[in-house]
Amino acid sequence: PDNALAQPVGTTLERYIMRKQSEFAYATGELSQLLRDIALAGKIINREVNRAGLSELKGAFGTENVQGEQQQKLDVVANIRFIRALKNGGQACAILSEEEDEIIQTGNNQGRYVVAMDPLDGSANIDVNVPIGTIFSIYRRITPVGTPATKDDFLQGGRKQIAAGYVLYGSSTMLVYTTGHGVVGFTYEHSLGEFFLSHPDLLIPQNGKIFSCNEGHWFDYPEYVRTYLMECKRKGYTGRYVGSLVADYHRSLLMGGIYLYPPTKKKPQGKLRLLYECYPLAFLIEQAGGAAVADANGTPILDIVATDCHQRSALVIGSTNMVKEIAASATATA
Ligand code: AHG
Ligand code: MN
Ligand code: MN
Ligand code: MN
Repeated sequence: PDNALAQPVGTTLERYIMRKQSEFAYATGELSQLLRDIALAGKIINREVNRAGLSELKGAFGTENVQGEQQQKLDVVANIRFIRALKNGGQACAILSEEEDEIIQTGNNQGRYVVAMDPLDGSANIDVNVPIGTIFSIYRRITPVGTPATKDDFLQGGRKQIAAGYVLYGSSTMLVYTTGHGVVGFTYEHSLGEFFLSHPDLLIPQNGKIFSCNEGHWFDYPEYVRTYLMECKRKGYTGRYVGSLVADYHRSLLMGGIYLYPPTKKKPQGKLRLLYECYPLAFLIEQAGGAAVADANGTPILDIVATDCHQRSALVIGSTNMVKEIAASATATA
């Protein structure tokens, strides 16, 4: 405990953003402001998530979203909170959300950025107090400043992301993001209301011993996926599946491992959405030295061209060598 007191005060998110901005002579500060706005939205959603059990924010909202899913109350609340924070912030001209059919115009036509988001990831886990998250992905708009944004601004492809990240509402709340110069993680200090730098340079181990997927879909998985999973079991690897993509991803990032959401008979395109689930996590994993692919051919997620804002994709993501192994298993099974 004495040592704990001797520790210097950490770097706040604010200070970190300022420092990074000054390192890039050309930085206008707009992206910095956008990251601050996202952090604020994260804090607000964190508050709602924390008290969900007390404030009747649990349970279904009674509506269906464009994905054909039952919306939970917190899905709707997180969506509203996030949109409001970005509207007020002024930097985002439009938002794409899992919870809305069409892109949302913020009215900030002078804004240079668009943001795709999954306001609340892991909805099914809200009512049982299991970690959930918020995922975001940022592009610089390609339509002229001063006009409303269009779908084209969102459909530039994963490699055009200029920043991406997530907030994990777990046993502690974390903000993890990249602007294309590695991955950084901040932990939220509730009593101070600040994010502090806790993980200055996140790198995923090249090998891992944990596999993560919904084994309930076993009989629906392609043969090569089952072959690979059998091999994991033969080697005595550990199985872990939270069922919140952000939480499963975060564990894989820190400990190494592989996360899979393969195509199933019910969802032949896969379940996860490219623009606000797969692309941002793929950008992060590549920045952290890992890999993310879509299919048996090993097509990198970031190379897939999306034609629809809510397009789905299969996802295999994690430690590079494990992702390579599953691709090899696909070749061997073919
Ligand atoms: P969301 O809650 O944003 O709709 O995302 C749900 C996703 C993801 O969080 C999770 O990994 C996956 O759905 C779980 O799906 P299964 O229940 O089919 O395993
Ligand atoms: Mn959903
Ligand atoms: Mn999700
Ligand atoms: Mn969601």
